[in-house]
Amino acid sequence: IGTVIFEDSSVASKAVAREIADLIIGKQRSNQSCVLGLATGSTPKGLYAELVRLHKEEGLSFKNVVSFNLDEYYPMEPDSVNSYVRFMHELLFNQVDILPENVHIPDGTLSKEEISAYCNDYEAKIEALGGIDLQILGIGGNGHIGFNESGSLQNSKTRLVALDHITRVAASGDFSGLSNTPRTAITLGVKKIMEAKRVILMAWGERKSNIIKASVEGPVTNQVPASFLQEHDNATFVIDKEASSKLT
Ligand code: F6R
Repeated sequence: IGTVIFEDSSVASKAVAREIADLIIGKQRSNQSCVLGLATGSTPKGLYAELVRLHKEEGLSFKNVVSFNLDEYYPMEPDSVNSYVRFMHELLFNQVDILPENVHIPDGTLSKEEISAYCNDYEAKIEALGGIDLQILGIGGNGHIGFNESGSLQNSKTRLVALDHITRVAASGDFSGLSNTPRTAITLGVKKIMEAKRVILMAWGERKSNIIKASVEGPVTNQVPASFLQEHDNATFVIDKEASSKLT
C-alpha cells in the first residue's frame, strides 16, 4: 500500500484525474476499453469536475470507458435527488461523451427477489470485460469501502447490505433526517474491489484522519474493510494534509 499526501484536495484530485486520463488514452491507443470503478459522495466531486474539464478543454474522450459504480441505496428511484444515478449523471456522465450503454450503477428499483441474480450479473459483466482497470474509492468514518461496512469479509460478493448506524447518520443530512435515510444498499463486494488492477482511495480532511491511520497502520481486519487494501499490490491512498495528520 502506498500513501501519497497532497497539500490540498484540489491538487490531489487533479493528480488522480491525470492518472485516469493517461489510462484512458493508453487504452485508446491499443483499441481497448478502459474499465473504471467509480464512487460517489463528497470526496470524488473535485475529481469528476477535473475529468469534465479535461473532456471539455483538452479533448479527453470517454468513448472507450466502461464504468461500474460501487453502490446505490436500496430502495432508490433513479430520479430521486439522493440517488447515485442522478449524482453520477449530473457530475460526470451528462458532461462527457461516455456511451450510455457503458454506464453501470446498481439498480435501487429491483424487487427483493431480483437482487441476488442482478448482483451476480453485475459481477459477470465486470469479469467479461477482464475486471476493473482502476477503482476509485472514498472511505467511511468506520472504514467502509463501497458500502462494505465493518464485518464485511474480504471475499464478499456484490450484495444487499444493511447500512451501519454511523453511515446512516452521515447521510441523514441529505435525507432530511435519520428516519428518511435508507437502511439498506446494494454494494460491489470487497472481492471485486480487491481484484481491481489498480485501486486509489481518496480521503480529505481532519474527520478522516483517525480512520486513515487505522486503515494504513492498523491490523488488517474486517472491522476496518479499508485495511484489506494493505494486501492489494497496487493500491494507493491519496490524501490531503489533514487526513494524514495522525499517521506516524
Ligand atoms: C460512495 C461510497 C462510500 C463513500 C464514503 C465516503 O459510493 O462507496 O464508501 O465513498 O462513505 O463518503 P464521503 O466522500 O461523502 O465522505
